[in-house]
Amino acid sequence: MTLTRSSFLAEGLLLFCMPDTNNEQALPVLTKSAFREDFRWGVSTAAYQIEGAHEAEGKGLSIWDVFSSRKGKIKQRHHGNQACDFFNRYPDDLQLMQSMAIPNFRFSLSWSRLLPQGTGLVNRHGVAYYDRLIDHCLELGITPWPTLYHWDLPQALEQKGGWTNRDIVGWFEEYAALAVKLYGDRVKNWMVLNEPMVFTGAGYFLGVHAPGRRGFGPFIPAVHHATLCQAAGGRVIKDFRPEAEVGTTFSCSHIEPLHQRERDIRAARRVDALLNRLFLEPALGLGYPLDELRFMRRLEKYMLPGDEERMAFDFDFIGVQNYTREVVKYAFWTPFLQANLVPARKRGVPYTLMNWEVYPESIYHILHQFNRYKGIRKLIVTENGAAFPDELKDGQVHDPERLCYLKRYLQQVQRAKQEGVKVQGYFVWSFVDNFEWAEGYDPRFGLVHVDFETQQRTIKSSGHWYRDFLQG
Ligand code: BGC
Repeated sequence: MTLTRSSFLAEGLLLFCMPDTNNEQALPVLTKSAFREDFRWGVSTAAYQIEGAHEAEGKGLSIWDVFSSRKGKIKQRHHGNQACDFFNRYPDDLQLMQSMAIPNFRFSLSWSRLLPQGTGLVNRHGVAYYDRLIDHCLELGITPWPTLYHWDLPQALEQKGGWTNRDIVGWFEEYAALAVKLYGDRVKNWMVLNEPMVFTGAGYFLGVHAPGRRGFGPFIPAVHHATLCQAAGGRVIKDFRPEAEVGTTFSCSHIEPLHQRERDIRAARRVDALLNRLFLEPALGLGYPLDELRFMRRLEKYMLPGDEERMAFDFDFIGVQNYTREVVKYAFWTPFLQANLVPARKRGVPYTLMNWEVYPESIYHILHQFNRYKGIRKLIVTENGAAFPDELKDGQVHDPERLCYLKRYLQQVQRAKQEGVKVQGYFVWSFVDNFEWAEGYDPRFGLVHVDFETQQRTIKSSGHWYRDFLQG
């Protein structure tokens, strides 16, 4: 649910910039030099959220093109058909990025732009588009960081079962091989999947994201096949380009029990296993965390001999995508998980336009939690950011809430790094305001404001601050 502006201001904003723990007050001042020279600073985006041009130059439809054309799926019937028109405007947008001193750009490749049917025939116009985009980045001194899959499955593959069909492993390998053969000479840093928990959970269990399927029937096989593709994609990239730096990304939140009592603590452990561990641990060779998630045991039905090994891959980095923390209480009536998330609103804490609590220490705790895994080589924060009700006034966008949010989260990254956590990069979500999935265009996450009528870009105060920070 999106809040009205007035209730948001009343309940959230006033609390917002106040350090809320003694710990935070004691934090060192944020300075770029506290991160080492080799720390990677950047911004993140995704194809469907910014490109538009959804049918241009031979692109096939994706599940998001289809889902967003269906009534009642996206707020205000918004869709990504034009989005930020990045497909046509990328030269100007990259120029703007360069003017903001941003050295690394995370974007995703649209599978159905390259392979309109998901497999087989290659769309040479799509190939040429990413060629131009990557070359342009390099000409401007911006390092490209593509993600292979940020949720826009070719619709033709969904018609064959999509993520529920085990054949997707072969389809995905074909797509990954094509991408790395085409661009691997110029692209060094790759990410395989974006947040598998979200695209399987929201898309194949809750039905609130594309393709809108619901229940355990589609969810369980989708989870297993995404886990297999995560590792398979990594292997394909390394086979063609052993020198590539290959990662994959996870949505993750620090989880806390509402009260320090046994039932809440155990509920919090189950939520942690589901949200933070389900896709990460198989990649590390630890298998699924089924001890905590008994109701997911039917995953075993989909496992073939050898799958334990197939699910594992030695990633060069793990992408941490953190926005908030979750507070959990035991809930007898909630099927399977027997746990509920207690919304920030009900806890009287500050929150963003997505209703997500502003809790900077979440990123600190989750970095430590991931750092404890022996199998993780390094961590990169591949997304962090916040949506607020920005307004363009007299040609300016003043967004002190976002600026404050970014500083406080970054301070926690700095704190973790100074304590020895192997975090080596930070990417803001997002470069520009964009299509926020089922929420449409209202939640704005950008460092750069987009007027979706005119496509005019305006750097927000947070964007000016990020530039100044990056310039040291
Ligand atoms: C996703 C983005 C999304 C952002 C904010 C992440 O879960 O990767 O696509 O826009 O969060 O909701």
